[in-house]
Amino acid sequence: MTFTEPQASPLALLVLGRESDPSSERGVECPGELPPASDPQLVARARTARSALGDRAFVLGHHYQRDEVIQFADVTGDSFKLARDAAGRPEAEFIVFCGVHFMAESADILTGGHQQVVLPDLAAGCSMADMAEIGQVLDCWDALEDAGVAGTTVPITYMNSSAAIKGFTGAHGGAVCTSSNAESALRWAFEQGERVLFLPDQHLGRNTAVLSLGLPLSECVLYDPRKPSGGLTSRQLRDARIILWRGHCSVHGRFSAQNVADVRERMPGVTVLVHPECQHEVVTSADLVGSTEFIIRAVETAPAGSSWAVGTELNLVRRLARLHPDKQISFLDKTVCYCSTMNRIDLPHLVRSLESLAAGQVVNRITVDLTVAANARLALDRMLALP
Ligand code: 13P
Ligand code: SF4
Repeated sequence: MTFTEPQASPLALLVLGRESDPSSERGVECPGELPPASDPQLVARARTARSALGDRAFVLGHHYQRDEVIQFADVTGDSFKLARDAAGRPEAEFIVFCGVHFMAESADILTGGHQQVVLPDLAAGCSMADMAEIGQVLDCWDALEDAGVAGTTVPITYMNSSAAIKGFTGAHGGAVCTSSNAESALRWAFEQGERVLFLPDQHLGRNTAVLSLGLPLSECVLYDPRKPSGGLTSRQLRDARIILWRGHCSVHGRFSAQNVADVRERMPGVTVLVHPECQHEVVTSADLVGSTEFIIRAVETAPAGSSWAVGTELNLVRRLARLHPDKQISFLDKTVCYCSTMNRIDLPHLVRSLESLAAGQVVNRITVDLTVAANARLALDRMLALP
């Protein structure tokens, strides 16, 4: 596939596997010595520490992680599969989560008290998850109460949200969803109540409600947490079937319908395959839409010689192109589009995590308050029980 690596400049992303920025942890404390990215022994050091830990550690790798990290993952997956995998490994003392903060929090909630979850770089957050804060969600619920609709509204929160918001969702009869099960989660929610408050990704909520459940766009309203009552009247809140939080993914939100039109011109016969976090007009102009696991399966099972333009995170698209040289796989946008926070987990951070654990020190442990965790667990268990 064709794309241009970012040039080294103070603003460019660090080139994958070749540089790192040990002086920048974006205001978070990451104790322990971070090995220099130039250390030629990094891979050997990671192998030694990994084998010293043996079954005491379980390393999870999200599909958007760098190849240099994925090579050390015991399992790879999307956020749904990794949540299930974490819950299914009670014998592992340490869960090393190569992904982002909300995924590590969910792993802590789903694992036992004897297990410790480690995020190799605490600055690996998610800009979408940061678009909804618990205080704003409580204000939103107050607005629903004032409109007299809170009792008939079911909250559904995307996995990409803080533990506090998952806790709120669990305590208010709702469930978590991921991009693999958003349709079942919404169907379930409409059996429990009359309308849904969908947090925090407006695009996943809208795309699923309209394209999978057949709701008209006019029954989806957008709640802007920066405006009083979300910028909506009580009447609009009452009439809505789905109240979408005004949040989006800064990576998937970049793709445009123009990208789709351009790629169809450049590659006649191409199949355009996009993640449901993309904007509605991108999804409606694509050929196929689905979660990260869906995208991987679609490419894996495609016939040799077929050509694909994929609208999701670039680490994954590059890996698919490398693993399937018999198919033409290109990135939907012409410009580089990594998830910068997923990319913060690099080999130096992984080596530091594994070596610290092997030496008996737990660095960058993620823990969730027990009361929050109990409520969040309700919402996660409702998701895991979906058909
Ligand atoms: P998945 O649910 O497909 O793993 O997506 C997680 C994510 O962060 C997508 O941007
Ligand atoms: Fe968050 Fe988007 Fe990155 Fe996923 S790809 S972790 S939604 S910023």
